[in-house]
Amino acid sequence: MYRREIDPAEYADAIHEMLRRGIFLTSKAGDKVNTMVIGWGHIGRIWEKDVFVAYVRRNRYTHELLDANPEFTVNVPVHGFDPKAFAICGTKSGRDMDKIKEAGLTLAEPQAVSVPAIKEYPLTLECRVIYREEQDASKLPEEIIRKFYSVEKEDHISYYGEIKAAYILEEEKAEILQV
Ligand SMILES: Cc1cc2nc3c(=O)[nH]c(=O)nc-3n(C[C@H](O)[C@H](O)[C@H](O)COP(=O)(O)O)c2cc1C
Repeated sequence: MYRREIDPAEYADAIHEMLRRGIFLTSKAGDKVNTMVIGWGHIGRIWEKDVFVAYVRRNRYTHELLDANPEFTVNVPVHGFDPKAFAICGTKSGRDMDKIKEAGLTLAEPQAVSVPAIKEYPLTLECRVIYREEQDASKLPEEIIRKFYSVEKEDHISYYGEIKAAYILEEEKAEILQV
């Protein structure tokens, strides 16, 4: 695989647009690699760093893995996605199954962090968590509590991941024949 480096700021609009449908956040602790669909998140520049902020509910297996190893990769399905993979990664928990295997996804070696990327969803951000914030429900409007925290009661934890590498995974560049 060939990594075509990108400036994440140039892809912020595209990533935010794709977040409306769902993108993939992968985490890893020990030999466990897991991916989940996320719809909440954004790219920004904070503390003079390019950062991706993800919001992960406390009951997700991903939360457990992120607290054990504060690194993640974000993969954006720029060429579309397999609905089956999306359904598995957006509803099943990695506690109960190997979602990478079940969804038929292929891991790609990371460049700057310990968490692999997903080959099928080639726009990749490799992130290291530099700040983690627990939501304070007492500061949220009642209407939001009712809408988002009355069925699933667990709060969201925001993970601010400094973007350590950003690229698009492409097939190997054709070798130029030497004559
Ligand atoms: C479109 C879509 C967007 C989602 N966005 C989020 C999100 O931003 N944060 C979150 O905690 N869960 C979100 N989920 C739910 C998780 O993907 C789902 O609970 C998943 O099974 C968690 O996997 P895990 O337990 O292996 O971490 C979303 C699901 C879908 C289908």
